[in-house]
Amino acid sequence: MPTFCYAKSQIVLHWVAALVITLMLVTGTFILATMPNTPAKIGMLRIHMMMGTLVAVLTVVRVLMGRMLPAPPDTAAQKVAHLGQIVINLTVLLLAASGSVLALQSGLLDAVFGSGALPEDFKVFTARQIHGWVSKGVMFLVVTHVVVALYHQIVMKDGVLARMTFRK
Ligand code: HEM
Repeated sequence: MPTFCYAKSQIVLHWVAALVITLMLVTGTFILATMPNTPAKIGMLRIHMMMGTLVAVLTVVRVLMGRMLPAPPDTAAQKVAHLGQIVINLTVLLLAASGSVLALQSGLLDAVFGSGALPEDFKVFTARQIHGWVSKGVMFLVVTHVVVALYHQIVMKDGVLARMTFRK
């Protein structure tokens, strides 16, 4: 059984980020992307943009904390896990970056925080296509991450999941 445990602040940030990212993937796909661009959509877009920015900030803070706080033992399996974490973090940052480029390109910022109008359809912008594809990539990576964690917990019974809980 591993004795290593992440710091409380890392555990809290991990689960907050997991919750917000999951909420954004679900609401983005099933609500935002299916709504016509009427003024009624502006409130949802405002929340999506603010939460997306929060996700990007949380990701950077988590990476910096990971560099400053004690790291898990440097085994071969941990190296692979670390690589996986880097890929997820970079993909999430790419998602937030493509959303931000879309906001700048499409006049979304002015529509949400000023007096401008929404574009007729976001899908005409390349950044929107990229945002859509990268969101599918993040979904795939999140599902893989959960499956691997459950495999460790249920099949290998190595207690790795306990590192991300307050259980000792
Ligand atoms: C990392 C956090 C983010 C996540 C998880 C996320 C997720 C999503 C998802 C899943 C979609 C629907 C894609 C599809 O089904 O094709 C979407 C659409 C969208 N997102 Fe994000 N997003 C994030 C950040 C942002 C940011 C920071 C902005 C802007 C500043 C933004 C602006 C938009 C816009 C304008 C749409 C298009 C909605 C439409 O087509 O009507 N997103 N997002």
